[in-house]
Amino acid sequence: MTESQAPARSPIHEFDYIADPGLLADCHARYWELKTTAPPVFWTNAHGGHWVCNTGAAVTQVLRHPEKFSSRILSIPPNPNQPMMIPEMLDPPEHRPYRQMLRPFFESKAIAPLEARVSEWTDELLGAVIDRGECDFMADIASKLPVAVFMELFGFPMEKFTEFRQLVVDFFNARASAEERHRLAQIILGHLAELFQARMAEPRDDMVSKIIASDIDGRKPTFDELMSIGFLMFLAGLDTVANAMCFGMRHLAHDEKLRQRAIDDPAVIPNLVEELLRRYAFVATPRYVVEDIELEGALLRAGDSILAPLPLVGWDEGLTEDPRTVSVERQFYRHAAFGSGIHTCLGLHLARLELVVFYRAWFAKIGHFRQIEQGDETCRGGSVMALEHLHLAWNA
Ligand code: HEM
Repeated sequence: MTESQAPARSPIHEFDYIADPGLLADCHARYWELKTTAPPVFWTNAHGGHWVCNTGAAVTQVLRHPEKFSSRILSIPPNPNQPMMIPEMLDPPEHRPYRQMLRPFFESKAIAPLEARVSEWTDELLGAVIDRGECDFMADIASKLPVAVFMELFGFPMEKFTEFRQLVVDFFNARASAEERHRLAQIILGHLAELFQARMAEPRDDMVSKIIASDIDGRKPTFDELMSIGFLMFLAGLDTVANAMCFGMRHLAHDEKLRQRAIDDPAVIPNLVEELLRRYAFVATPRYVVEDIELEGALLRAGDSILAPLPLVGWDEGLTEDPRTVSVERQFYRHAAFGSGIHTCLGLHLARLELVVFYRAWFAKIGHFRQIEQGDETCRGGSVMALEHLHLAWNA
């Protein structure tokens, strides 16, 4: 059947996951509105046309069935220039050996020893703003901490910190054109290539040297595979932690009781981190439909793209009572902020560690704070949503 003869997709509900004005004003408010007003799975004509999951159950179904919903094309609309990212863009069975190879580097016991260094970095960043009594939290703290941690973990020379951080900020800038982002990706890949080549010639006791020497089904990773792994780490580990911090701090700026609770009892901070991730999950991940399939009454066809907005799982009333409310008293924190199924985030222990260390330090050193609206607190839409700025003030 040709495209023109194929039955139209329905139900239709127009929604632009990158540039919807409501989304740019407040991405979580807009997705919540969509959850209450649009069908469980719907088609939008934006970006060449694609499906959108609009219930937690539909999102879970998509993520848990990689044989039906492939991540080989991980962008809407499909981007032929997207550099390969391993293991995220691999389906079973290819995905497994790479995941197995990488898992030991990200297990909690491998990540725990980093705590002291994450603490030092956090103290340094807070020390630089504390007497000022205000900061652009995104620029001064959230965008810096994960870069420092990533560079140290991976084994990048720290003297490149300023240059590297600028590359990260420019790459994730919502206003960067596709050409500009492609150009920046080439520079980033150049830095990664330089690092891999240096460690191949002279291994050290760092993660990159260990990945180079590791085993994938009885062989060493090729140079191209190393680059694909490195590029994914870069994309997955930098922007995400910064965004989690910003959305979490924005909530806390308006929730005095919760701030007081974290100040009085720092033992609740791991729960706080989990709850803020549940309430403000910010990834909407794309998949590609492998075969014709029905999902919550909608008929999806092989070759269609589908967007799975992850916040919907944590907002599912069947899983979480009163999901709008942020509470550190819940017994379980059920969400998919880190995904679900075979591609569940490999860096989740590292991300949680960074967030817990950060909130502990903030509440111990600064305590209460407030948001100063300056009119530039808009959101970035797309697959990984973000707050562009977050101006905070406190009594120095
Ligand atoms: C709060 C911070 C983070 C969030 C919310 C997050 C979220 C996610 C999500 C939703 C996925 C699955 C995407 C999909 O199914 O398409 C994922 C995958 C992944 N993340 Fe994270 N991430 C975070 C931090 C990190 C960090 C710090 C690293 C490592 C440096 C990392 C490395 C990865 C990798 C390697 C994958 C692919 C796993 C696979 O395909 O098997 N992430 N992340």
